[in-house]
Amino acid sequence: MEVLSTKDEFLQSLERCGQNEGFMPMFYARFNSSSDLVKERFQKTNFEQQNSKMMSCLRMVAGVSNNEAEALCELRKRAQTHGPEHLNISPELFELWHRTLVSVVAEVDPHWNEGLKKTWDTTLHSVTAHMIKNR
Ligand code: HEM
Repeated sequence: MEVLSTKDEFLQSLERCGQNEGFMPMFYARFNSSSDLVKERFQKTNFEQQNSKMMSCLRMVAGVSNNEAEALCELRKRAQTHGPEHLNISPELFELWHRTLVSVVAEVDPHWNEGLKKTWDTTLHSVTAHMIKNR
């Protein structure tokens, strides 16, 4: 059996989730109801646009586990927009973002298993660490 890299395993899982139209709406519904601090930040958001921005961003950051330039560049940009001078998202909310996203993928990806949990945790841990470090 072909052994996939963490990046490819992440990307394939993401695309399986993306086949389900409910994936991003489920994520934002759950993220918003997880904390009033989150909910208040998304009051004026156009979620149709936000859903597709988040999907593209996740595709771009998939290579973070290999320190790929595209992933690091995207994360620096997102860290800036989420940092103190712009959205000013507090670091503890990133852990909540990570946990919420994994909980939704676990329900939406039909191939979900322990190995995929590891892949998502490893990738999202690097993603959030870069966001926090560069803000
Ligand atoms: C590593 C985790 C995260 C990633 C990859 C991410 C990604 C993005 C992207 C791609 C956008 C659209 C472009 C931009 O404004 O930069 C965005 C917007 C936004 N994000 Fe995040 N985000 C993350 C975590 C969070 C967290 C923890 C919050 C907490 C509430 C948050 C709140 C927001 C808000 C309020 C917007 C603007 C929405 C609007 O346009 O109304 N994000 N995020």
